[in-house]
Amino acid sequence: MKITLTVNGRKENLEVEPSTTLLEALRMLGLYSVRKGCDTASCGVCTVLMDSKPILSCCSLAVQAQGHSITTVEGLEKDKDFEEIRKNLLLEGADQCGYCGPSLLLTVYSLKKRNIKSLQEIQKYLVGNLCRCTGYHSQLRAIKEFMEVGE
Ligand code: FES
Ligand code: FES
Repeated sequence: MKITLTVNGRKENLEVEPSTTLLEALRMLGLYSVRKGCDTASCGVCTVLMDSKPILSCCSLAVQAQGHSITTVEGLEKDKDFEEIRKNLLLEGADQCGYCGPSLLLTVYSLKKRNIKSLQEIQKYLVGNLCRCTGYHSQLRAIKEFMEVGE
C-alpha cells in the first residue's frame, strides 16, 4: 500500500506492507538514527516525534503515520535548542555508547516545547527512555540545566 507522510520537513511517498512498522519505514529512508532495541515497547530507543509528540516507532505501523509529520534527529541538526541539549549531554558525560542518544535527545527536545518546569514532571516525562550506561545522573544534570530547573 502507498502512504504519504512528511519526514523531517520533506514529503515522502512510500510503498509499505500493512505490517511494516514506522521504525522499518524510517530506516528504509536511510534514517539510521532510529534505533531498534527491545522491539516490544519497553526500552524507548526507537522514539521519534510524530506531530511533535514522542512515539515508539517499533510498535507504530507505518500506515498510522499517513498524513502526519515525523521528526528524527537528522531533521534537527540546525535547531538551536537541539544543539544546546546535545552540548549539555556531552559536557556532563551523558553520551556514552550513544545507543539511547537519539531517542533521549528527541524526548528532551519535545519536553522543552512543553515548558515543563518541575523536576518530578521531567522525570515522569522521561520514564521509558532506558539507558544501560549512564545510571541516569549525568543525563538528569544535563537536562535540568537545559530546562533551567533546580532541585
Ligand atoms: S525498540 Fe521500541 S521500545 Fe524498544
Ligand atoms: S549511553 Fe549507552 S545506552 Fe545510553
